[in-house]
Amino acid sequence: MKNVGVLISGRGSNLGTLIAAQKHAPYRIALVISNTEGAGGLARAAEAGIATQMIPHKGKSREVFDAELDAALRAAEVDIVCLAGFMRILSDGFVRTWEGKLINIHPSLLPAYKGTRVHERVLEAGEAQSGASVHFVVPELDAGPVIAQASVPVHPNDSPETLAARVLEVEHSLYPAALRLVAEDKVRLEKGLAVFT
Ligand code: GRF
Repeated sequence: MKNVGVLISGRGSNLGTLIAAQKHAPYRIALVISNTEGAGGLARAAEAGIATQMIPHKGKSREVFDAELDAALRAAEVDIVCLAGFMRILSDGFVRTWEGKLINIHPSLLPAYKGTRVHERVLEAGEAQSGASVHFVVPELDAGPVIAQASVPVHPNDSPETLAARVLEVEHSLYPAALRLVAEDKVRLEKGLAVFT
């Protein structure tokens, strides 16, 4: 059984699906940390009886903030860290410390459309397909090796909001499935690749 820490900044719908899936999964969410006050995800976690912590980033250097995250995760004996709508860039030091144990979900078919404004850019480019990716986190933003992906069609009349909602729906089954693979040691980060066993 692996202890999981989830970092969030907002509504936490992906956190919600990780919580729902843990009943029959080889992991337990030991701690949810938000860098923003009043994040919807904090209430979801508290309702589920999961420990929560608010660690504000304002007025702190990236290194100081990340050291606080690291200390909280270690105190909770976390084995795997999931980023779920966490809107802060992590320092290289933090990423290296948690390398192979740090995963993220991104709402595009990586390596396409890293960064922000994903759905707007997908629509502007006239793509027929988009999707979501769960990947190991490496220092370069959204560039880590992919563990799992799911695709959705892009419809001609889509707005960024309708496309985001379609992608979010597949995120909700993708993230628990990918976390299960990591928790069961069925995939690991090795020399910059996601290696499956
Ligand atoms: C998701 O679209 C995720 O892919 C992205 O941020 C969003 C978070 O949504 N990284 P939620 O807070 O899990 O509802």
